[in-house]
Amino acid sequence: MNPSAPFDFRGRHLFVAGGSSGINFGVAEGFARAGANVSLMSRSLDRITAAASRLVALGADAIGLAGDVRDPAAVQKALDAAVERFGPIDVLLNGAAGNFLAKINDMSPNAFKSVVDIDLLGSFNVARLAYGHLRKPGASIIHISTTQAFTPTPYQAHVCAAKAAVDMLSRVMAAEWGADGIRVNSIMPGPIADTEGLNRLVPTPQGRDAMAQRVPLKRLGRTSDIAHAAMFLASEWGDFITGAVIPVDGGLGLTGPRDFTAAGEASKQARVAAGSGA
Ligand code: COA
Ligand code: NAP
Repeated sequence: MNPSAPFDFRGRHLFVAGGSSGINFGVAEGFARAGANVSLMSRSLDRITAAASRLVALGADAIGLAGDVRDPAAVQKALDAAVERFGPIDVLLNGAAGNFLAKINDMSPNAFKSVVDIDLLGSFNVARLAYGHLRKPGASIIHISTTQAFTPTPYQAHVCAAKAAVDMLSRVMAAEWGADGIRVNSIMPGPIADTEGLNRLVPTPQGRDAMAQRVPLKRLGRTSDIAHAAMFLASEWGDFITGAVIPVDGGLGLTGPRDFTAAGEASKQARVAAGSGA
């Protein structure tokens, strides 16, 4: 397939943890259009197989593998299958995550733990198990964080805490693995249009329009905005960048915490009505 200028990842292997949809799939599509061979992993074999088929339809070589980032044995199996197919991993995108709106007093310990387990422990599992399969020197790991990692945001305690820890984990990996020629960075996306994550936090079109107006650059992000940043970081152009945590948010993080009160309270009422809430 033809590389999309200015990036050329022909013959290089991208492994995506959490790649069946949204931002992570958009990043995979960017790399696929630039010639990469792509391995996608997520919990649902159906969703991940369909996602890989969409990349194959673009002309890329891609496979979909089932694996929950909370299950080290399943992650290892997926990594082994990916490397068997495409060889050592050049770029690892660590992006599996979970989110919902809930205040601290409305969250059980297990609710808080569910997001920490997926986002933080999952990122640790994937990177640690992938280490033996990374190309050395030359591999690049990219964590998908969020601007909530530095902005204390009501209804997002679990995500703020988990992603702040992901960013610190990313920086420690950069320090420990730099000598192996592995670079490790984090991207903090802002609100990205047509994604599960944004729709969960801002469920109405009117709310998303208002959010776009709050962004200094006056639009929501696109998955391609995150793909471009990830390709830059993984390319030769980013060769001296490691341990960085980079907002790609149109400047929204400059404007303080977002107000999720209306959607958060509506979500709480819906759970109470369904018999599952506090
Ligand atoms: N408010 C409060 N607690 C909630 C909640 C909400 N809106 N949604 C889930 N929980 C609680 C559950 O009640 C449960 O706690 P309990 O056992 O004490 O009752 C706990 O969170 C785990 O829920 P469960 O559905 O069993 O977890 P899971 O591992 O199957 O799913 C989630 C993880 C909850 C994060 C789920 O939303 C998910 O799979 N998300 C992936 C997709 C996504 O979030 N995309 C956006 C990425 S930014
Ligand atoms: P999404 O489409 O729901 O993406 C989440 C992905 O993770 C899916 O592919 C999901 O696939 C996978 N996943 C979830 N739990 C998993 C697990 N335990 N093991 C393996 N895979 C798992 O949501 P998104 O909004 O695009 O979010 C993608 C990333 O961007 C996340 O890291 C999120 O925190 C970050 N982010 C999003 C926004 C935004 O505006 N959307 C803003 C900032 C940051 P399966 O369901 O098939 O497992």
